[in-house]
Amino acid sequence: MATNPTQIELIQPDDWHLHIRDGEVMKDVLADTARQFARAIIMPNLKPPVTTVDLANAYRARIEGQLKALGMNSFTPLMTLYLTDNTSADEVRKAKAEGIAAFKLYPAGATTNSDAGVSDLKHCHAALEAMQAVGMPLLVHGEVTSSEIDIFDREAVFIDQVLEPLRKNFPELKIVFEHITTLQAAHYVRDAATAGKNTIGATITPQHLLMNRNAIFAGGIRPHNYCLPVLKREEHRIALLEAATSGSSRFFLGTDSAPHAKGAKETACGCAGCYSAFNALGLYAEAFESVGKLDKLEGFASFFGPDFYALPRNTKKITLVKQAQSIPNELPLGDATIVPLRAGETIAWSLV
Ligand code: DOR
Ligand code: ZN
Repeated sequence: MATNPTQIELIQPDDWHLHIRDGEVMKDVLADTARQFARAIIMPNLKPPVTTVDLANAYRARIEGQLKALGMNSFTPLMTLYLTDNTSADEVRKAKAEGIAAFKLYPAGATTNSDAGVSDLKHCHAALEAMQAVGMPLLVHGEVTSSEIDIFDREAVFIDQVLEPLRKNFPELKIVFEHITTLQAAHYVRDAATAGKNTIGATITPQHLLMNRNAIFAGGIRPHNYCLPVLKREEHRIALLEAATSGSSRFFLGTDSAPHAKGAKETACGCAGCYSAFNALGLYAEAFESVGKLDKLEGFASFFGPDFYALPRNTKKITLVKQAQSIPNELPLGDATIVPLRAGETIAWSLV
């Protein structure tokens, strides 16, 4: 690859962590993802959460109906179930048999619609054992929720208090540490000794590769740059960028694009989530280009995710060009609007 390419071709990427909600909101956000990605892991934190195979199948049918209406039939949603204190081993085995891609662990209270999440992993022993036995990945929102722990430390504390004991108890359980935000997480995943191949991976969002926590407070409070886990110091952003562009197959693309209406963000107690789906690939290309590692984008975006999930890699190719794309101030979202990441500015790369 040329040192400063203005065009790159890659196997079509997948998004290994995505929120598309339901109903009218889904209608307005799904096309942004399906334009760029072949598949996406669909997060189950709806209201009420997607806790059973039957609920996931019904959700999948609504997504497929919407894709059909959009004429976007080549996109595949990969469904997940929301782990609770009551998830049974039988539900795990049924999920495996019916093609559910993973379970998601939300510590109760950690983020949007997580009240029904796990209060203590000791309640999940049977479910975790079944996941380990059938090769069902567990996707973790890696933050402790205790109010005594500083919000900027919640991920690092989670590694010691939850993740390391979990991996000791279930050494062959496939775990994805989702949307990592710290140097501690990047190094933990990089260095983890594993019992088998592919037992630990991590997704990284575009916002955590491109911004540090100053972006939440630049000239005034910036609610559209607020997500969970919250943006961290510059040293953490650099460690994440190093991990993502290292060529290690443990790190792969997951946008965590999380739509909330403008009014729900710009308010006294605003929701967490960045809407990056509008031109997510352009954002990732910018991040990789910033360290001269565009040649590492394809592995991160298109190869390491399917390899981890033991799914086939995509075969279709896409092209990104170095051509600035203007990002609208707002986009339609049901009967409201949404403010995308980079609203009113440009993104240096666009999908052809
Ligand atoms: O910022 C976030 N938004 N982090 C999450 O973990 C959940 C997500 C959402 O669903 O809005
Ligand atoms: Zn998420």
